[in-house]
Amino acid sequence: MNEIEEQKKYMQKVKELNNKKMKYMILTMGCQLNENDSEKLCGMLEKMGYERTEKQQETDIALFNTCCVRENAEDKLFGKLGELKRLKEEKGIIIAIGGCMMQEKHITDKIKESYPFVDIIFGTHTLQRFPEDLYKVLTDKKRLEDILDIDGKIYEGLPIKRDSKIKASVTIMNGCNNFCSYCIVPYVRGRERSRKPRAIIEEVKELAKEGYKEITLLGQNVNSYLRVEREKQIQFEEYNGINSFASLLKEINKIEGIERIRFVSPHPKDFTDDVIEQISKCDKVCKLVHLPLQSGNTKVLKEMNRKYTKEQYLNLVTKMKERIPNLTLSTDIIVGFPGETDEEFEDTLDVVKKVKFEQVYMFIYSRRVGTPGDKMENQVPDEIKHKRFNRLKELVEGQIEENNKKYVGTIQKVLVEGESKNNKELLTGRTDSNKVVIFEGDKNLIGQMVDLKIISEHMWYLKGEFINK
Ligand code: 5AD
Ligand code: SF4
Repeated sequence: MNEIEEQKKYMQKVKELNNKKMKYMILTMGCQLNENDSEKLCGMLEKMGYERTEKQQETDIALFNTCCVRENAEDKLFGKLGELKRLKEEKGIIIAIGGCMMQEKHITDKIKESYPFVDIIFGTHTLQRFPEDLYKVLTDKKRLEDILDIDGKIYEGLPIKRDSKIKASVTIMNGCNNFCSYCIVPYVRGRERSRKPRAIIEEVKELAKEGYKEITLLGQNVNSYLRVEREKQIQFEEYNGINSFASLLKEINKIEGIERIRFVSPHPKDFTDDVIEQISKCDKVCKLVHLPLQSGNTKVLKEMNRKYTKEQYLNLVTKMKERIPNLTLSTDIIVGFPGETDEEFEDTLDVVKKVKFEQVYMFIYSRRVGTPGDKMENQVPDEIKHKRFNRLKELVEGQIEENNKKYVGTIQKVLVEGESKNNKELLTGRTDSNKVVIFEGDKNLIGQMVDLKIISEHMWYLKGEFINK
């Protein structure tokens, strides 16, 4: 029997075990891929008859989907586990932890030793078995660990409970083959595995039918979609001529009902001309491109194993700006990678000044056990890392302020997402460049693409005015 069919049986069995309405709460850390995995966990839990709650006090299951890219996620998990211990003692709730951090042995050892009340530990390659794991824990009353060290398969057909009715994420590939020397992802998510083109197109068509307007294609290395298959001449089921990331964009762009296509995260080295061409040609593909820089210094980039130089990155940006009208860029930057000198850090500032990113996600280098970066001897002292971070932040915020001014007076296409969190009287949406815009408007505009005139700018949002077309 197909593994998902078997899990569906377990979903039914768990549903029959519980004779009252049970509740679950879920805490998701990390990236959009993890959020998408959490939507699948929620889908499975709801099929098992559980209802979501945000209240710790009333939950029957507390579920964590963890991340391990930087160390603050670990502090967050252990802090939360301390809090939940009491609930476990009082009410006997089930505590389950999954995700990337569970692929790290030193973490699971710590949980088993210091938090023995955790019921289920599962990894990134066994998410689809959660119904079976839960059933076993509910019936055997024993703790369970379900982790695989080998690369998991790609499973189709898991139930999914999405967070939004307007925007949806679609994971198109999993894993990473790049081994950047600071990054733990290749160790916890395994090697690159692409989903079949047909399965992706069918999922997006289904989303369009359900009324979704924006989709984000996800992958740790999204633009190397089907690269391994092409390079190693591995046979895969062809579908509408899709054999690369560029051809996938082209096909998704044809799907009626979908109005916007985004994707994260690409690697600059895989940003081939055919991808640039499709971004430019496909009207639905947003012109905001996330292009992780990490460092602006060629020597540091080499140590990071990023496979491009400062000049190659800047040339790529120039080429993209030439070929993609209205292009905006966002990026990720790490400060304080081992060995980075003040002078080398200046190169990062230099690239930021030159490119003028729309948004910069800034990170302080964090040592990850098992990565080459962790073993490097010339670690940068915390104090220097923080100083550099603050300098970068100041530069970026100044640039964002300047950039925001350019929006005032322009007309922007905004996908209306819902009521503004801070003021229910106002609506909120996003521009093609992913800027938040708030404006006064009728609630029936939610889910629609509208033209807004930008009337003022603030650091993290713009204010707009509805114009009747
Ligand atoms: N320390 C700090 N930042 C990191 N990132 C990945 N690994 C680390 C690390 N060890 C950042 C990179 C990546 C983003 C998702 O997280 O910038 O693009
Ligand atoms: Fe990590 Fe580099 Fe792979 Fe991105 S490309 S997931 S930073 S190893």
